[in-house]
Amino acid sequence: MLTAEEIVRVRSSFDRVFANATDMTTTFYDRMFELAPEIRPMFPADMTDLKHDFISKLAVLVGSLDETTGLLPGADILGRNHLRYGVRPEHYPVVGEALIWSFARGLGAHWTDDVEQAWRKVYGIIAQRMIAVDSSSSSSPITSPLRRT
Ligand code: HEM
Repeated sequence: MLTAEEIVRVRSSFDRVFANATDMTTTFYDRMFELAPEIRPMFPADMTDLKHDFISKLAVLVGSLDETTGLLPGADILGRNHLRYGVRPEHYPVVGEALIWSFARGLGAHWTDDVEQAWRKVYGIIAQRMIAVDSSSSSSPITSPLRRT
């Protein structure tokens, strides 16, 4: 459960970073591959489209947060897609750390302990929802509308 204050912190910090979305996503993936170089081969050589897809999806998820966090539209589909990419539950923490790092870099003085705590909680909720997808229900390939192939 998120508090109304946490939702405000996450939304307003996201808006600030979104103004420089390209920088943020570049820092995010650079940091991820620095922390876990072994996952680099899972990703395409050209990350341009993925950077855009990632930040767009995060915008949708952040925009849909409510105090019950019951909605998270598309998180299940996203989780199922990630199973197909070979993503495992143990990959989520390092990606979360890279995300926190890139927000901290992007926000500078606006990055406070309260903002960090709220982001850790939100990432945990999204990751949990993605991980909870039952792999047995992923029999048909699902393509995100955001995905350009
Ligand atoms: C909050 C968590 C995450 C979000 C919001 C997210 C978002 C996305 C989005 C929007 C895409 C584009 C394709 C699609 O929509 O299915 C994508 C692709 C991908 N993500 Fe994530 N992701 C998350 C976590 C992770 C984690 C933990 C990994 C582990 C390494 C990962 C690895 C990948 C890979 C390998 C692709 C496919 C790249 C490709 O072949 O085009 N993601 N992600």
